[in-house]
Amino acid sequence: MNEKHFLKLLDFTEDEINNLIKLSAKLKKDKKLGIEEKTLIGKNIALIFEKTSTRTRCAFEVAASDQGANTTYLDSSGSQIGKKESIKDTAKVLGRMFDGIQYRGYEQEKVEDLATYSGVPVWNGLTNDFHPTQIIADFLTILEHKGKLKNIKLAYIGDGRNNVANSLLVGAAKLGLDFRIVTPISLFPKKELIDTCLKISKETGAKLTLTDSIEKGLKDAEAVYTDVWVSMGETKDTWKKRIDLLKPYQVNSKSMSYAKKDAIFLHCLPSFHDLETDVGNNIFQEFGIKELEVSDEVFQSENSVVFDQAENRLHSIKAIMVSSFNN
Ligand code: CP
Ligand code: NVA
Repeated sequence: MNEKHFLKLLDFTEDEINNLIKLSAKLKKDKKLGIEEKTLIGKNIALIFEKTSTRTRCAFEVAASDQGANTTYLDSSGSQIGKKESIKDTAKVLGRMFDGIQYRGYEQEKVEDLATYSGVPVWNGLTNDFHPTQIIADFLTILEHKGKLKNIKLAYIGDGRNNVANSLLVGAAKLGLDFRIVTPISLFPKKELIDTCLKISKETGAKLTLTDSIEKGLKDAEAVYTDVWVSMGETKDTWKKRIDLLKPYQVNSKSMSYAKKDAIFLHCLPSFHDLETDVGNNIFQEFGIKELEVSDEVFQSENSVVFDQAENRLHSIKAIMVSSFNN
């Protein structure tokens, strides 16, 4: 294991990931009981956001504050990052002032470079390829609702090769889940990642399925997960072809009927399940669809645990920071 950084789940063992989930649960409980121990007093944390965020930013800020650390928020409009200063130079500068750095942006290479050149712990808050902090929160949520992770039947349906799908695939392979990616063949994850995960699954007992069949992929699922059809950083004209491809893959009462009756519904959020967003409205004007990756009915249903997931971002991001400094 890389002792300090949290760049992608591929860098961690099954035990290390399970320990992060356990620590997230402990920190959650301690906070609720009012007995949280502050282990990051006086640390200074830089939060770089080249893409927008609600949950990840707030989770890092509140987690740092709960643990006694300070945060500084930097984005591309108000800093030199990217335009006037390379990531390598930025890393060297921030490494002289801060004890840890969170990065959300585009290429995975950038967050890896920050880790190489800053000399302080670096956490990946989302890149084009991976969203690893999300998966610790997701798996904690599944554990809370289903009591186990090993062999759990988790189906991810939608854009099968985005950062969330890729990270779920790695996490599921490492922790031995029965994981299905349900997506058109043209949206299957990259072959190299699939091969790596299949290799991992041989050691952990994970069952990994890639299928374009909704019925097969969702059959008896205990948890159903989706994400947006177009991710941050993709061009606006991607919407048309993605809607054409993914319309049949919407999570709705029909697709949920293939899963177990008590299957939970997960979504990393934000989600387009109604017309209460600008993007949702624009899509409606252009394509006439009111709900995208999930119907409002499923989103609002009793099976939906999306806000538990959102809360768990706080506890899991706190666990990730705490373990980086206490390893
Ligand atoms: N799920 C997630 O990462 O949300 P934000 O984009 O709001 O941080
Ligand atoms: N796949 C989404 C995740 C957002 C949390 C995106 O990258 O926009």
